[in-house]
Amino acid sequence: MAVFEKLPRHVAIIMDGNGRWAKKHKMKVAMGHRQGTETLRSIIRESSDLGIEALSLYAFSTENWKREAQEVEALMGLILEFFSSEIDELDEKNVCIRILGDKEGLPEKQRRALYEAEERTAANTGLKLNIAINYGGRAEIVRAAQQLAQKAAAGEIRPEEITEEMMARELYTRDLPDVDLMIRTSGEMRLSNFLLYQCAYAEFMFPAVLWPDFDLDAYHEALQAFGNRERRFGGR
Ligand code: FPP
Repeated sequence: MAVFEKLPRHVAIIMDGNGRWAKKHKMKVAMGHRQGTETLRSIIRESSDLGIEALSLYAFSTENWKREAQEVEALMGLILEFFSSEIDELDEKNVCIRILGDKEGLPEKQRRALYEAEERTAANTGLKLNIAINYGGRAEIVRAAQQLAQKAAAGEIRPEEITEEMMARELYTRDLPDVDLMIRTSGEMRLSNFLLYQCAYAEFMFPAVLWPDFDLDAYHEALQAFGNRERRFGGR
């Protein structure tokens, strides 16, 4: 078991490179996502074993609907498969599952599986596993602003008294710590609308490896590098 001096409380991952991995292996893109799901399983397990507090994974963005119908279908299928095959083990490991994003915009079967997973694991006190599905960071912030505006209109709060913490409490991640470490695989260096508010002071890492090839050694390397970085949060 790897030992780390200083672990991030909250790790977020943009699992990029499934398509390129499939192309490299002369396979259909769906096979890249399938292989990527294997990586996701092992990273979740390892995060839980290491005692990381929160792990947020970007599985499907609001922009991903623009992909070919076949690919969207494959991803939706994998999401369903993942929840039915993993839920027992995750529950046993005391993992608490939360979906970030708009579940109402998903097909019925997926929506039901996600609600069930959240309900079943709601009282678990281990790893807080957040899976972003039909998620967009700006939409999340707009939704939070709307909720605060509604409270103000109802006379429950005063607009000039709104704080950063109040805003954070209206986000999908309401009670979670800010992101400490954001990893995007495949060498792309963009945030792509993921956890915009929560990443204000995050450390960013962009390993060149494609997501299906992101193994535990690569994960440990990122965690080790995080421990070596000096974080000042705007101070000296
Ligand atoms: C980005 O790779 C990856 C995605 C859009 C989907 C990520 C999904 C999974 C890893 C599996 C499904 C999720 C669950 C919860 C089971 P890309 O296709 O954009 O890669 P490319 O840039 O190389 O084309």
